[in-house]
Amino acid sequence: MKALYPGSFDPITNGHLDVLKRARKVFDQLTVAVVENPRKAPLFSAAERRRLVEESLREVGIEDVPVITYSGLLIDCAKRLGVVAIVRGLRATSDFDYEFQMALMNRDLDADIETVFFMTAGEYSFLSSSIVKEVKRYGGDVSKFVPRCVERALEEKFKEG
Ligand code: PNS
Repeated sequence: MKALYPGSFDPITNGHLDVLKRARKVFDQLTVAVVENPRKAPLFSAAERRRLVEESLREVGIEDVPVITYSGLLIDCAKRLGVVAIVRGLRATSDFDYEFQMALMNRDLDADIETVFFMTAGEYSFLSSSIVKEVKRYGGDVSKFVPRCVERALEEKFKEG
């Protein structure tokens, strides 16, 4: 069974990797899909976000998960790839309303593709790309929460100003 793990990944965090590892145990084939135009203006370009996902996967020794970018509707990307499921991570209850809305809309657009949720490990339940960027922007230590390549990329980005 093939599944798609979509997101903004601006940037990828250890919380995303945790969800990805769980989904990989359940699905035979998993593809990460980086949305080109996320809802919020991204810090990293789509190409940078994709490269950081690829490098992070290499860091944790995962070699069988391809990374693509997409624009337009997520469900159209899922259909093109012929997946049976869209994977999303759930942290706290605060994620639920948006995820529920999106899952039901995606089901309306294509009833054959299921959205499947994985709970993150407790230690990542408060973690988000936004909070990582905020902490790093002001010089805080995020090494526990992101792969090394992401930490370096954030340093470079904030040095650029
Ligand atoms: O990591 P995010 O920002 O929570 O990811 C949300 C994402 C990228 C999966 C979603 O915003 C997306 O795919 N956008 C493309 C447009 C779309 O299909 N929106 C959902 C309609 S139900």
